[in-house]
Amino acid sequence: MNHPISILGIAGSLRQGSYNRLALKAARQLTPQDARLEPFELDGIPGFNQDEEQNPPAKIVELKARVRAADAILFVTPEYNYSVPGVLKNAIDWASRPYGDSAWSGKPVAVMGASIGMTGTARAQYHLRQCFVFLNMYPLNQPEVMIANAAERFTEHGELTDENTRDHIRRLLEALVAWTRRLGSGKA
Ligand SMILES: Cc1cc2nc3c(=O)[nH]c(=O)nc-3n(C[C@H](O)[C@H](O)[C@H](O)COP(=O)(O)O)c2cc1C
Repeated sequence: MNHPISILGIAGSLRQGSYNRLALKAARQLTPQDARLEPFELDGIPGFNQDEEQNPPAKIVELKARVRAADAILFVTPEYNYSVPGVLKNAIDWASRPYGDSAWSGKPVAVMGASIGMTGTARAQYHLRQCFVFLNMYPLNQPEVMIANAAERFTEHGELTDENTRDHIRRLLEALVAWTRRLGSGKA
């Protein structure tokens, strides 16, 4: 695999000033030169209905195509009630269906997340990692990027200025690119 690694970044928040969407934006600036990180926004995705899985909404058709075209996935998850926000889990569920046609299978994947609390989405990240088992994704174990006290790390203009956090994200992306090259492309 000599081509630039394409990473699809998905932040699990719809909020305008979302720290997780801002962290994904920062990650794009910190991506190694031999990789590209493109975001996919989750707005407009209806709640999963298995009656619709054979004929999913256009946004899900697009999501599955974008996942399949990517070499690797980066999830940037908030933590809601000690777990993964429904908006992210919902998108994961849609793109995993119908059975036998999951877009996620075989993809290298990394996780990071930002919360206003002190544990920096640790509990949500471990719940998300449990899903990777059945999704047959290949998670990068380390570094773990858990951005605690997020409100203190971004400026009022939404820039991630905390150098320690920027360094963690930079190292996560470097490790994801190396992991993806080691595994081979996750493209179907
Ligand atoms: C429904 C809900 C549940 C939350 N639960 C947690 C939680 O379990 N742990 C935590 O650290 N923060 C929790 N928070 C606070 C989030 O960390 C905070 O709202 C954060 O800004 C969400 O991410 P975002 O900025 O990307 O939207 C919760 C917020 C909401 C709205």
